[in-house]
Amino acid sequence: MSNNNLEASEWTVFRGTVIHSTHEEAVVPLKDAILGVRGSQIKFLSESVGGNIDDLAKEYGFNPKDVKHLKDGQFLIPGFIDTHIHAPQYVFTGTGYDLPLMEWLDKYTFPTESKFSDIKFADRAYSKAVKRTIKHGTTTACYFATLHAKAAVKLAEIIDKAGQRAFVGKVNMDQNSPKFYVEKTENSLSETKWFIEQMNERQYSRVSAVITPRFVPTCTVGLMDGLSDLAKTHNLPIQSHLCESKNEVSFVKKLHPETSYTDVYNDHGLLSERTIMAHCVYCDDKEIELLKETGTGIAHCPNSNTFLASGILDVRKLLERKVKVGLGTDVSGGYNPSILDAIRQSVGVSKLLAVDRENYSPISYQEAFRLATLGGSQVLGLEDKIGNFEVGKEFDALLIDTKCADSPFDTFNDEYADDLMDIFRSLSSLVMTATSGKFTWQVKRSSQGSNGS
Ligand code: GUN
Ligand code: FE
Repeated sequence: MSNNNLEASEWTVFRGTVIHSTHEEAVVPLKDAILGVRGSQIKFLSESVGGNIDDLAKEYGFNPKDVKHLKDGQFLIPGFIDTHIHAPQYVFTGTGYDLPLMEWLDKYTFPTESKFSDIKFADRAYSKAVKRTIKHGTTTACYFATLHAKAAVKLAEIIDKAGQRAFVGKVNMDQNSPKFYVEKTENSLSETKWFIEQMNERQYSRVSAVITPRFVPTCTVGLMDGLSDLAKTHNLPIQSHLCESKNEVSFVKKLHPETSYTDVYNDHGLLSERTIMAHCVYCDDKEIELLKETGTGIAHCPNSNTFLASGILDVRKLLERKVKVGLGTDVSGGYNPSILDAIRQSVGVSKLLAVDRENYSPISYQEAFRLATLGGSQVLGLEDKIGNFEVGKEFDALLIDTKCADSPFDTFNDEYADDLMDIFRSLSSLVMTATSGKFTWQVKRSSQGSNGS
């Protein structure tokens, strides 16, 4: 990550290829663009500059000599947004796929998460998890922590130091959980209140709290009501899991026979335009309508849905019904902390759905790219700040260098140097073939008044 602590009045101006998404077009490639950032805010994006840098410099008051010219093979894209990730589960990523969700939680997840009562262990594990997501180009993430409020504060501190934008949730569970990993309702609420107060005191510029009931099976209605009150009182977003696997849905049906899973959350004040629900694979049409009406966003986690054998989400249907959708890694239900992987997997599972459906249109990689950026910003309620390079938003970007040393994919741009399709090709091969671990991501973020980088 580059260290750009910039004064609000300082200009950073890029010239070169810029690729992002808009609501009208899934991928907009701008070949000879000029992007002007003052302090941390995007002030202009001019599509094809030709020779007019001097005119722009006069109009906006920057020095044309300071323009950063992107090299051949480089381009800017918006930072990736992970709308659903469990930071503590990073320590057992890639293991435990012998069991489906509910048994996986009991055998692997709860015992591991219980270790985060040890703040030293939490510090070590969280530092590695956050570093890894940043290496994969995640500039914004919505994290689940564990039941432990102190460790959740530690996670926020680590994220702030690393310069990532994030929501952090202290998890709540007061029933149907093992003895070593469960809370009393009152303690769960008071610890959450303490966590919120700690976060408020710290006043991080880009890291804040999210209310986090784990899911209906582990939360009494009293806890859900209390958490809804806390979200309202402190004006906070809410995150949870919904309709992820068949066994989980049956479990909820036994607990709440009179109503749907989605209605349970709604009846206890947990659905709003600031709510993020992960998975939603088994929501029926009425439930989807309720998600739409309440403005709830969905974190689509295809890697996890496949590897825990939970199911396949019909993203096309949700997009047609105008429900907000972003991508999530769901580490470690998903084994890969990369949103690039989530892009690929979302295209793959959508194509699998198309196998048995006539006239079904699977999502394209361009649409998946939009879900990973602009879609994620909508789901997290950050569309006014990030998600694309619209004027007025914060500059939050990845500089992709397709020709970096040991680049994991080959492009053949030289033969087609002036062809805009080249850029599509670069992006498509980035999305389809790059191995993020070996790839050079450079996160460029101008930061104002924080120690971000
Ligand atoms: N449902 C409740 N908790 C979890 C979790 O930790 N991971 C996943 N994938 N689903 C959940
Ligand atoms: Fe999850």
